[in-house]
Amino acid sequence: MPLASSKDVLLKARAEGYAVGAFNLNNMEMAQAIVTAAEEEQSPVIIQASQGAIKYAGLEMITAMANVLADHASVPIVLHLDHGTDYKQNVKCLRAGFTSLMFDGHDLPLEENIAVTRKIVEIAHAVNLPVEAEIGSVLTIEGLLSDSEIAEIRAMNIPAQFEILRKKIGPTVEEHIARPEEAKRFVDETGVDFLAAAVGSVHGLWLDIWPLRVDRLQEIYEATNVPIVSHGSSGVLIRREDAEAKGVELAPGEGSLLDAIKVGYTKINVATALSMEFNKAMLASAEKRPGEKDPRKLLDPARKAVVAKTREYIRLFGSTGKAETAKSGSKEGLGGGMAKRGEE
Ligand code: 13P
Repeated sequence: MPLASSKDVLLKARAEGYAVGAFNLNNMEMAQAIVTAAEEEQSPVIIQASQGAIKYAGLEMITAMANVLADHASVPIVLHLDHGTDYKQNVKCLRAGFTSLMFDGHDLPLEENIAVTRKIVEIAHAVNLPVEAEIGSVLTIEGLLSDSEIAEIRAMNIPAQFEILRKKIGPTVEEHIARPEEAKRFVDETGVDFLAAAVGSVHGLWLDIWPLRVDRLQEIYEATNVPIVSHGSSGVLIRREDAEAKGVELAPGEGSLLDAIKVGYTKINVATALSMEFNKAMLASAEKRPGEKDPRKLLDPARKAVVAKTREYIRLFGSTGKAETAKSGSKEGLGGGMAKRGEE
């Protein structure tokens, strides 16, 4: 089937109380693995490309891959731009045939973030394309700690890792959490479809140890009434019951990813965990087959590992068996497939 609209997929998910995985592709094998996992789970899925992935593979290659995968799939596949940091990047992706956009203006002053987001929403909505935008800041672990600090922490046991991370990065992360009144103003003034609201997660974390400010998320969802997007999901505490074993002490208002899905998280972005799964399997096969001349012998086990990990996430998010998608779009826009070149 043609590429699907993220709006169709996410509004249905919100109404039914589950979330949809938005998985970052870095190469063909990862894109194939994500779609295979969605097929096997009969789940809708969002494949998303960062600007780095677009630079690596080329915009046309990414769009072509996604179209071929969607054409052969029996489940809805969305192609989303992850963290488009300017207007032009969004226009290029709109024109190339992406079925979902993102503007990330989190480091701009609020007024400017609103102004650029509104401009992108205006052109995107003209061809029935949904737009996500960020408010507050989801920080990156590499921006918070040096490489040597990260290596030192990762060598510790899990409770010790949590304790030191809480001390070292907790206060800064807290400062960057989005505020409900700002989020409401942002949505009202931009018309954005989904909100990447920072509620305590950090890009690039690991081991599912980091709690979320679920109370703040709920307030933001209630104030804005748009599906909320989870960024930096690879390190987030998945289940409340796992907290004790990991040495995670939940402060008042904090909770897990599954708690967050209940109160507004609807699109869950995962990048680091899948990339690490891919690399681990590829390196293990390289070790087993020193001198291997066929790259496919190293890449196929990596692709299989990503299928397994993606299926795990899909089941956790509750979208297994939810492939039937409501259609909100018009014929010439996304409802009939996607904006075609020349039709924008
Ligand atoms: P992680 O790399 O932490 O999974 O975050 C991914 C993400 O939010 C992409 O936008």
